[in-house]
Amino acid sequence: MTLDKLVDPDSQTLLEVRELSKTLGGKKILDKVSLTLDKGEFKVLIGPSGSGKSTLLQCIHFLIPPDTGDVLLDGKSAREMSHRDITLFRREIGMIFQDFNLFDHLTAKDNVAIALRRVKGMKKKDAYDRALSELTRVGLLDKADLFPAELSGGQKQRVSIARALAMDPKIMLLDEPTSALDPELIGEVLNVIQGLSESGMTMLMVTHQLGFARHFTNEMLFMEDGRITERGAPEELLAIDSTFRTKEFSLKLSKIQGH
Ligand SMILES: Nc1ncnc2c1ncn2[C@@H]1O[C@H](COP(=O)(O)OP(=O)(O)O)[C@@H](O)[C@H]1O
Ligand SMILES: [Mg+2]
Repeated sequence: MTLDKLVDPDSQTLLEVRELSKTLGGKKILDKVSLTLDKGEFKVLIGPSGSGKSTLLQCIHFLIPPDTGDVLLDGKSAREMSHRDITLFRREIGMIFQDFNLFDHLTAKDNVAIALRRVKGMKKKDAYDRALSELTRVGLLDKADLFPAELSGGQKQRVSIARALAMDPKIMLLDEPTSALDPELIGEVLNVIQGLSESGMTMLMVTHQLGFARHFTNEMLFMEDGRITERGAPEELLAIDSTFRTKEFSLKLSKIQGH
């Protein structure tokens, strides 16, 4: 396993996940999972279906409370928080799902503005101004007045990213953000994610887009049976002569994806 990372004296841990465990339906889904994200870091989590990736993201977000273990965001322990503080903690984490989770009866602009109005208590005009600036950031200003049914899958996912960004999250957790998209729409969403990373957003992304991931992440995490079994630089895990499970898994993915 490749654990050694160059020590960067300026690095600052933003997220620390400590030995998270979760049992669901009598089955251990997460088994003492630990990881850290430095400020501005972009890490990629991969692994076979059913290995616990989505459960891990939801436990980090405390959407599903872990049985044991802790999550520290900016040094603050979620385990020790009151119910009210957990709500605030959760607002600092932007979640992006495979299926967009947009309100079908609201326009793109309203989908972004509604949380600003309800959660942040912003005035209507301020909320719309902010919504339009986030839609501009994901390249969708001209689609602001369209409803989800009038948007492509890639555009819907970009609206959901704009909505998350509008909440000023400290980090973003992305769970297979391009898995529901037709192949020709994947690139536009990956471009937005790349732009976010380049602008300094801290992100943990579950993805099967290894071609993309290997260029933009400094560390890949490979999960199997509820545990992170391999972690390291993509060039190491995916080297031609690599004997890592990550490599074997990536070859299987390339066969399925046809390249
Ligand atoms: N609420 C639940 N009750 C029982 N088992 C669950 C529940 N949620 C998920 N699981 C099981 O947990 C395992 C991991 O699921 P998941 O985190 O969705 O994996 P992944 O995202 O890696 O595909 C799977 O075997 C799944 O069936
Ligand atoms: Mg999943």
